[in-house]
Amino acid sequence: MNIIRCLNAHDVALKAYEIFKHQLHTKPHSVLGLATGSSPILLYQELILGVQNKELSFKDVSTFNLDEYVGMDSTHPQSYAYFMKTQLFDHVDIQLHHTHIPHGLAHDLDLECKLYNEALDQYHVDIQLLGIGSNGHIGFNEPFTPFESVTHVVKLKESTRQDNAIFFNTLEEVPTHAISMGIQNILKAKKIVLLAIGKKKAHAIKAMVEGPIHESCPGSILQTHPDVTLIIDEEAASLLSQYKS
Ligand code: F6R
Repeated sequence: MNIIRCLNAHDVALKAYEIFKHQLHTKPHSVLGLATGSSPILLYQELILGVQNKELSFKDVSTFNLDEYVGMDSTHPQSYAYFMKTQLFDHVDIQLHHTHIPHGLAHDLDLECKLYNEALDQYHVDIQLLGIGSNGHIGFNEPFTPFESVTHVVKLKESTRQDNAIFFNTLEEVPTHAISMGIQNILKAKKIVLLAIGKKKAHAIKAMVEGPIHESCPGSILQTHPDVTLIIDEEAASLLSQYKS
């Protein structure tokens, strides 16, 4: 794994921006795997500025999001579809029919997962953007999700619901289930870029980078991927052996 240690969250976003800018310059028809949550927000702001400054364009880009809460449609302010619309898609020149997010309100969730897998199989994600949960999850693949998994319905761990409660008024409002790309979908990406900011991520980063490759830390499977770049701030890197003073 290539590890880029940054001074702060803004620096994390700038380093990630350079990778995405290079990708879109090299291949305007890129397929991007996107994440929600707090980690990518500053990167999305940089990408918006990049489009405004005419440094890059999303005109020919296609996107696949990692996940969506079950029970929420795109108009729900806490849905990931709404997040993507307000944090990125509304502000760049992307064609909305090129964007893909699992439908959280699908009547038949198993069918929705199957269709999402089929759509993913038709494309080949060039860069998959990831965050990591404090329990080591990637996408919503919680600890002990089989490494063989493809898009599936997930029961969220209480720790994940508590982490995500910051985006809701109360813990009770946080959904209990989500649809998530599986580990195999993530590993198929040509390149993976994972962002992590803050002390809360330090244990997960250490387990992912230095721990055994084990389903107890879903992120540890990234050790098997040939092209992974971690862009992390000093706090998230603080438990890594190579950075301990
Ligand atoms: C989001 C996702 C999750 C988050 C992870 C970290 O689409 O799939 O795996 O990346 O929970 O969330 P933040 O960035 O809010 O710390």
